[in-house]
Amino acid sequence: MLSTTSIRRLFPHTSKFTYFNSASNGPLPSPAYKIQEKQYQIARDAVIGSQDEQFEALKSISSNGAKILGCKTSEVGFGFNTTFGLNLAAFGLPLKSGDEILLSDIEFPANVYPWLELKRRGVKVKFIKSVDGFFNLGRFTKAITQRTRILAISFVQFFNGYKNDLSTLGEICKRHNIFFVVDAIQGAGIEPLHLKKWGVDIASSGAHKWLLSSQGTGIFYVSEEIQERIKPPWRSWMSIDWNCDWSNLRDFTRDYPKSARQYELGTYPVPLLLSLDWSLQFINQLGVKNIQSHTHELIDLLIDYINCSDDFRVTSSIEKKFRSGIISFTSDKLNIDSVFGSLKRKNIITSVREGAIRVAVHAFNNKNDINKLITALDQASS
Ligand SMILES: Cc1ncc(COP(=O)(O)O)c(C=O)c1O
Repeated sequence: MLSTTSIRRLFPHTSKFTYFNSASNGPLPSPAYKIQEKQYQIARDAVIGSQDEQFEALKSISSNGAKILGCKTSEVGFGFNTTFGLNLAAFGLPLKSGDEILLSDIEFPANVYPWLELKRRGVKVKFIKSVDGFFNLGRFTKAITQRTRILAISFVQFFNGYKNDLSTLGEICKRHNIFFVVDAIQGAGIEPLHLKKWGVDIASSGAHKWLLSSQGTGIFYVSEEIQERIKPPWRSWMSIDWNCDWSNLRDFTRDYPKSARQYELGTYPVPLLLSLDWSLQFINQLGVKNIQSHTHELIDLLIDYINCSDDFRVTSSIEKKFRSGIISFTSDKLNIDSVFGSLKRKNIITSVREGAIRVAVHAFNNKNDINKLITALDQASS
């Protein structure tokens, strides 16, 4: 991996802030920003940019996205956010009245509301009760019935960073003939994913957090097998492979490509597309596994501190298997909002979720950042 010093040069905010909030919004690296700036200049000056460029970027997004998600290039498309792919799953997978969908009771709302909408069609939505803020495998298997059709779950849980064991969940889903849908936004780019091997059917991730792109960008995955079975809830003229030949737009007989890109919704936001392409390439250049070992190493330092502290306690799982780039902690003695405020006044940016401070650690963070946080926590508790 590039040295953290070289990485930090691409993130000007690191000179002003100690930024631990990529679980809310990842910062845009300077080269990605410059790409957007150039595109907006082109738009402002009414010069039509190269169309080839956007289609090349789309291809590259699929292949770089596939490396990050652990699947084939033909299984990845460009979406605008996590919601995009989750709606594709909710309204595209074959469901009948009386069918059941299983969700965890601690899902982020993006992975709840599309499913709730299906109640109008007689589909039942059942919530699996979590234990201590973690998904419980035993309760999941107990909740499965003859009518269970879908499990939809986050790869990494948004408020405590609990990384679900998608491999085991995938096996269970396969055994019971259940579609397996994953909200990947809190882990894609920093925790290795093997969606294909794990039997995931559809997954979706916004790219504005750990994938270091802008709001309005994302990637989604639809397995080859599901591409054969899904009934797309929408269709876009842009998804047809025109090969940049616009000379016969009234040819309505053209086919969609046999890839996940057939579910995209063009016309595309070109400045965002090109900068997303840069960011995905950058993540792959760093290597997801390298990012993971770097972030876990830094988080270890924070866990060591909290475990020795009388004032704070970790609310995340510290079992290696369930860890991610997010670590959360709370206090039984101190007001956590005040602690959060005192960190913010020192330009240490975290977030508060479900009564705990959520620290999100990315490739640009370093030991010095962690030390600053520890010193500030010491001061907040003294
Ligand atoms: C687990 C999870 N899913 C989804 C989202 C957001 O969904 P979208 O990208 O559609 O805005 C968030 C956070 O904003 C999240 O934490």
